[in-house]
Amino acid sequence: MYSINLQEQIDITCNKYQLNTKGTDQAFYNRLIANISTLGHLFAEIYEHHPACIPKFIALIDMLVRVHKERPGTLKEKDTYKLSQGNWVLSNQITGMSLYVDRFCGTLNNLPTKLDYLKNLGINFLHLMPVFESPLGESDGGYAVADFRKVDERFGTIDDLRSVQQQMQSEDMYLMIDIVLNHTSHHHEWAKKAKAGEAVYQDYFYMFDDRYLPDQFEHSMPEIFPESAPGSFSYVPECNKWVMSVFHHYQWDLNYTNPAVFNEMLENIFFYANLGVDILRIDAPAFIWKQLGTTCQNLPQAHRLLRLIKQCVMIAAPGMALLGEAIVAPKEIMKYFGTNEFTAKECDVAYNATQMALQWDALATADTRVMLAAQHELLQKPFGTTWITYTRCHDDIGLGYDDSMIAAAGFDPYHHRKFLKEYYAGSHEMSVANGALFSVNPKTQDARISGTLASLCGLERAIQHNDENAIQQSIAKIILMQAQSMFLGGIPMIFYGDEVGYTNDYSFQQDPGKSYDNRWMNRPIIDWDKNNKIYLDNTVEQQIFTATLQLIQLRKKIFLFGDYKNITWLTPHNIHVAGFVRAYENKKVYCLFNFNKQASYLTWYIFKEHGHHPAELFDHWLGSKHTVGPDNEYFIMEPYQFCILEAVV
Ligand code: GLC
Repeated sequence: MYSINLQEQIDITCNKYQLNTKGTDQAFYNRLIANISTLGHLFAEIYEHHPACIPKFIALIDMLVRVHKERPGTLKEKDTYKLSQGNWVLSNQITGMSLYVDRFCGTLNNLPTKLDYLKNLGINFLHLMPVFESPLGESDGGYAVADFRKVDERFGTIDDLRSVQQQMQSEDMYLMIDIVLNHTSHHHEWAKKAKAGEAVYQDYFYMFDDRYLPDQFEHSMPEIFPESAPGSFSYVPECNKWVMSVFHHYQWDLNYTNPAVFNEMLENIFFYANLGVDILRIDAPAFIWKQLGTTCQNLPQAHRLLRLIKQCVMIAAPGMALLGEAIVAPKEIMKYFGTNEFTAKECDVAYNATQMALQWDALATADTRVMLAAQHELLQKPFGTTWITYTRCHDDIGLGYDDSMIAAAGFDPYHHRKFLKEYYAGSHEMSVANGALFSVNPKTQDARISGTLASLCGLERAIQHNDENAIQQSIAKIILMQAQSMFLGGIPMIFYGDEVGYTNDYSFQQDPGKSYDNRWMNRPIIDWDKNNKIYLDNTVEQQIFTATLQLIQLRKKIFLFGDYKNITWLTPHNIHVAGFVRAYENKKVYCLFNFNKQASYLTWYIFKEHGHHPAELFDHWLGSKHTVGPDNEYFIMEPYQFCILEAVV
């Protein structure tokens, strides 16, 4: 790397593409010059010992210039606008929904007809679950990609995707899609060539002649799907080799020690960038670097690769933010936002999976202490980056927060997790939930939890028993859960169906391509007759939809609900109630959540502990006012109630 003259290389490439570096292309040129040495440094750190290091780096510069040249003018304008907004992803104006196109509306072509429904709810950001070619039956919900550029015909065509993007753009909606970075389907062209014996493509994957190294790797690699896909390697009969397949046997891990793989996947990233993607969801980034003797997760080289991607995107598609889908321990997740000189220069967004799981913890135990014990970690997130806040998604709920957090609340970690699993699987006598254990590891008894928001909150059982009180209680829980994730700071992401209370769908059990994976129970097929019940008075659908809509509206109304590192958790006054203050300049909003099925009592002192003594509080949810009472009197919260209280000054 150090043997090439970077400035000269840039100028040669800019000339080749006839860039107007003193005119229309000046901003790009400046970004390229400003970041090239960091880029070179990162690339060399990873690849300097690879024989193709220099030619691949030169090819990367070429790619950046070409991608910029090809980037549509409208996207360049949008880039400039977003850059002028500071970090646009922090805004309280963005509310997302994650959905499967086929299960939501059939095909991409139908999606524009549903945008009004989404907009009526206040959604202006869509995560489309993977739509690229993926073999039916060996698809992992689209996360086994056979062609990164070809939309699977089940969904439509690439032109359909382009028109969805254009329609969304014209309606000021943001788009997110995935880059499945860690692996390809074994039907991908590279995998096919590897199977056919082409050494160049065998080097795109981790392929071994025998079990010697695979056995050593497996020694320290945890299994991801121990029930349905045990082990981390699969035998490939076509070429008589073993290939690394951390997820399912049909998902082959890409070998990022090979710079050709990095460059090819970066091309795919830019293909999505130039389609007009606003946030790119980098699937499973924790896994992208493997090293013998480690868990092969969260390795420093994985972070270097992400930083390299971020630098490239900042140069050629600066309006596209990166979401790192790392569902990892609290200490690890923070590193995805970048550390040291790369602080806030790695992923812009990450899932707040810890907080999500802790809300489920609090809901089952009626105790918020574990949630509170975790916050000192979660609050380390650097300014300028943000969370996806959510209650449910297409995946399972993992109880991956630290044992120390559970212990800090006075519980035994093993028994505490055992209780949570039994509670949500519905086998505990106290439980009202209908869920299921996912990926039970027979060796460790570790397990995660599947189930929809509504079923885990008891709605399925309440409806079965035709118990109106239980129905109302489960609705209160659903809204409590959504409310906390809505006001915490971060982009709220609603999982489709949850806005109208879809309960578990058990039809996956009849489909051999899905029956091994019970996460399908929480991936509903939308029945529009059900969704249209939002227009009928007092239906469950209307109650949940309206409350969700009001939460979104309230968040959009108050600027301080954006993520400006402006949250302070309240010291616990009652273990059943979690509370935080969101503040900006002289405005303060107290957000309190009662996870108890009984009323909870808080002394009025809770509103005075931060040196500010409001005389009155306005409850934005109920539209009522409270006069703050003396410290020996109580502010009472109803079962599963939450309050959004603004200090009246
Ligand atoms: C991510 C996806 C999950 C998938 C896995 C493998 O975690 O969210 O659904 O199974 O990656 O691609």
